[in-house]
Amino acid sequence: MIARIKGTQDISYEDIGYWHYVEEAIRNISHKYAFTEIRTPIFEATELFQRSVGESTDVVQKEMYTFEDKGGRSITLRPEGTASVARAFIENSFVNLGSPIKLFYNGPMFRYEKPQAGRLRQFHQFGAEILGSESPLADFEIIEMAYSFLKELRLNKAKLFINSIGCPKCREDYKTALKKYYSDKLPEMCSDCQRRYETNVLRLLDCKVDRELVAGAPSILDYLDVDCRSHFEELQWYLDKAGIQYEVDQFMVRGLDYYSRTAFEVRSSSLGSQDQLVGGGRYDGLIEYIGGKSCPAVGFAIGLERIVMLLKSENSKAGIPRGSEVAVLTFGREESVKGFDYARRLRKAGVSTYVDVMERNMRNKMKHAARIGAKISLIIGREEIERDIVTVRVMSDGSQFQVDSDYMVDYVVDKLRDIT
Ligand code: HAM
Repeated sequence: MIARIKGTQDISYEDIGYWHYVEEAIRNISHKYAFTEIRTPIFEATELFQRSVGESTDVVQKEMYTFEDKGGRSITLRPEGTASVARAFIENSFVNLGSPIKLFYNGPMFRYEKPQAGRLRQFHQFGAEILGSESPLADFEIIEMAYSFLKELRLNKAKLFINSIGCPKCREDYKTALKKYYSDKLPEMCSDCQRRYETNVLRLLDCKVDRELVAGAPSILDYLDVDCRSHFEELQWYLDKAGIQYEVDQFMVRGLDYYSRTAFEVRSSSLGSQDQLVGGGRYDGLIEYIGGKSCPAVGFAIGLERIVMLLKSENSKAGIPRGSEVAVLTFGREESVKGFDYARRLRKAGVSTYVDVMERNMRNKMKHAARIGAKISLIIGREEIERDIVTVRVMSDGSQFQVDSDYMVDYVVDKLRDIT
């Protein structure tokens, strides 16, 4: 057998109900916040991610699915959505539509990470981005939208962490202070951190190995200039006013290089070691950096596998798959023609109708109808054809009714209403 690739999954019977539920919530929340959907390609020029996510990040260094296509171009499966949205914003001149632009997306992302619970190589993100506003109002709305989404799914236990990582100007002084702090500790540090010291010293704060060292490091908050500080304070003021609880995590720098000022994460202790549910922040320099006119922006992305894990662990009813409402069970050729005709009529009335296309006996057909969760079965045999009737069986209690074929649709629709 050819097995599926490590770190990927088949989402079907067991989980698909959860995914439908979450996808519906994504469409609902995005509609309520008046965000427009954008669907970007799943692969892009490798350079887009190298430049935007950043050469020094783990994503670019170790995790990208990069290959050469038949035309000799270097292509990468998208590891995240923000870079593509920024590219699309420039390429399609969305700026002409008036500021700000509010977009959302939902789709698969690819990172070559070590698979474990909640960490996959193909995973899915729901993301939202506001492009064109420098105001902390935009940061607030983005955080509030992520927060409302989790609330709509009744995931109330997750916790919001925020930070400001300043602008490139104030960050330079901070980087110097960090270098100074770490310089005499270098020999004891892991090889990854030794590399990060040279390539991007901020990344040292991401180190999962030596948290104590991180705890003693200088805080970026002491290095913010007046504008960055007031931007951060304004955001907190709006969060307080809205009653959204948060904690300031002064060492959160996020794993991607494009951030400036606001950075935030939502974490849930129920998720285990991969506890980050939402990641986001401001990226005021990105659009200019990849070739557009300077344009401030802010956004978030939520990992859907982690959402589904939480819904499942909280025993949410969301996952119960919607079975078909009616199963059509026929015996014989003429009977089958009639059965397909009934199915067409039921579907026209909006009823989910499953036609059993196996030629087997009544007992097995009935067993199968029960297994697929049909609420009603229509039985069409010789007698039904001769008398132009249909036998309607309510699966939950086995009661049966013979109904004139002309009234079948109305009868079934009424019955379904009674039993659900
Ligand atoms: P990120 O923090 O890299 O941010 O990812 C966002 C979310 O995607 C994470 O919180 C997590 O739930 C999920 N995620 C990431 N990697 C994996 C994985 N290997 N397996 C399962 N889930 C995963 C971004 O991607 C930014 N683009 C967010 C953003 C949007 N910033 C501004 N706008």
